[in-house]
Amino acid sequence: MAAILEKHQDMRGILVEQPEVLLDGEHLLSARGVRDRCQFPGGRFFHPISAKGEVWTISQVLHDWPDADCRAILLNCKEAMRDTDRLLVMEMLTVPCKPDPRVSIIDMMMLLYFGKARQRTVDEYSELFRATGLALARVLRTAGAFSIVEARPV
Ligand SMILES: C[S@@+](CC[C@H](N)C(=O)[O-])C[C@H]1O[C@@H](n2cnc3c(N)ncnc32)[C@H](O)[C@@H]1O
Repeated sequence: MAAILEKHQDMRGILVEQPEVLLDGEHLLSARGVRDRCQFPGGRFFHPISAKGEVWTISQVLHDWPDADCRAILLNCKEAMRDTDRLLVMEMLTVPCKPDPRVSIIDMMMLLYFGKARQRTVDEYSELFRATGLALARVLRTAGAFSIVEARPV
């Protein structure tokens, strides 16, 4: 969020985070000079979300959770979103039969350390969206290991 707000001076950000983590987020956004354009309502993504925004980003979160939990998180986002809002999932994507060493090493480490954490394919994200009233809109590859998977409410 800091990087986005630094680049786009007309944008504002809302950080939905666990209350015990919010202060760290606030310090970071202060240090990056964008704190004045941010709100910190607090919240947990397994509970209904009261925040409103046009572009929703979930960065490096869904890879931590099994499918049922991802569906719960996405459903809470979907229920707070308006029809014109967009959801951007920022994750490393796995591609069947085409292993990317940058992604595979992280995937293996997550499996070893956390068991249920894992990177997913576009089709797997698409299926999670479908089950929660969202639809895959497009996939943006970046120069790095991360991709942006865009979804819209249906
Ligand atoms: C892997 S970190 C990703 C942080 C950041 N979005 C990024 O891209 O660097 C996962 C984040 O999920 C947050 N988180 C974990 N459980 C949560 C919950 N129940 N509600 C809201 N946030 C939660 C953690 O506090 C942490 O900031």
